[in-house]
Amino acid sequence: MKLDSVLVLSAVALSASARPFNLARRDVDPSLIPEFGVQPGVNPTGTGDCDGIPNAQGVPIKIPCICPPDRATFIADLNANVAAGHAVNNTGVQVTFPTDNSKASQLARITAATITLQNLRGPGVGCPQAATTFGAQAAAIQAGTAASAPAPVSSATPASAPAAPAAPAAGGVDPALVPEFGVQAGVNPTGTGDCDGIPNAQGVPIKIPCICPPDRATFIADLSANVAAGHAVNNTGVNLSFPTDNSKASQLARLNAATITLQNLRGPGVGCPQAATTFGAQAQAIQNS
Ligand SMILES: *[C@@H]1O[C@H](CO)[C@@H](O)[C@H](O)[C@H]1NC(C)=O
Ligand SMILES: *[C@@H]1O[C@H](CO)[C@@H](O)[C@H](O)[C@H]1NC(C)=O
Ligand SMILES: *[C@@H]1O[C@H](CO)[C@@H](O)[C@H](O)[C@H]1NC(C)=O
Repeated sequence: MKLDSVLVLSAVALSASARPFNLARRDVDPSLIPEFGVQPGVNPTGTGDCDGIPNAQGVPIKIPCICPPDRATFIADLNANVAAGHAVNNTGVQVTFPTDNSKASQLARITAATITLQNLRGPGVGCPQAATTFGAQAAAIQAGTAASAPAPVSSATPASAPAAPAAPAAGGVDPALVPEFGVQAGVNPTGTGDCDGIPNAQGVPIKIPCICPPDRATFIADLSANVAAGHAVNNTGVNLSFPTDNSKASQLARLNAATITLQNLRGPGVGCPQAATTFGAQAQAIQNS
C-alpha cells in the first residue's frame, strides 16, 4: 500500500518533469506538500457551510463547502508563491519551501501550505485552517510523532517507526460504551451512491454515502485500534481517548473518539460524515444534561 503510493508519486513526478513547461520553472515536489486531510462538501448546511475538523468537543467546525480547494489548483498556487518567495496575493508574507527532512523544514512546508490556503483569492481571503489537518500535522511534527515523510528517505526512518499497524489490543473497548450511530445505512438510495442521513434544520435528510454508517463490528474494531494507539491509526496527528467513567467530559470524549474513528475509517479524513450518525445530537444532549 505504502509502496504503491510511493510508486504512484514517482510516476507523477516523472511525467511532470517530462513536460517541457516545467523545465522553465522548478515546481515543488508534490509529495512534500501536506495533504489536506479533509474532504470538501461534507454535511452541507444549505447555506454554504460544511464540516471541517472537529473542535475539542468533537463537533465539526463549520467551513465553506468549497474548502479545502482542488489539490491541483492548490499546488499551482503554492508553486507560484514559492517561486515569488512570498504570497502572490499578500506580498508582505514570506513563503519558503525547504525540502529536507528536518523538523524545521517540515514545519516550514506546513506554514507555506497554510499561507497559500489562507490567501487563495486575495489578502487573507482563502480557506480556514479548519479545512485541513495542518494544525494536527504540525503538532505531530513538533511532538516527533509524525509519520515518516512520504519522500523517499533511506536512513532517516527511526528504528521505532512501526512497519505495520499494530494488531488491535485483545479485548478492545467495551461495546456497551460505544455510542450508537442512530442511523441505518442504505436508506432511500438515489442510485448514485447517496442515501439518507440525519435531517437538516429544515427536516430534509442530509445525503450521505450509502455505505455509511459502517458495520458496527468493524467500527468497534477500528475504534479499539485507535484507542490502543492513542490516536487515529489512519490520521496519526489526531489524538483520542476513551475514558470509561460516567462524567460529562468522559461521555463527550467517547463521542469524540467515535467521531474521529468514523471520519478516518479508510485514510486521513476519509471515512463517513457525522451526518451518518446522531453523534452531534447525542453530544448536545450530554452538554445540556
Ligand atoms: C491570487 O488570487 C487570484 C484571485 O483573486 C487567484 O486566481 C490566484 O490563484 C491567487 N494566486 C495565488 C498564488 O494564490
Ligand atoms: C498527541 O499525543 C502525543 C503523545 O501523548 C503528544 O505528545 C502530542 O502532543 C499529542 N498531540 C496533540 C495534537 O495533542
Ligand atoms: C485504516 O484504513 C484502512 C484502509 O485504508 C482500513 O482497512 C482500516 O480499518 C483503518 N483503520 C482504522 C483504525 O480506522
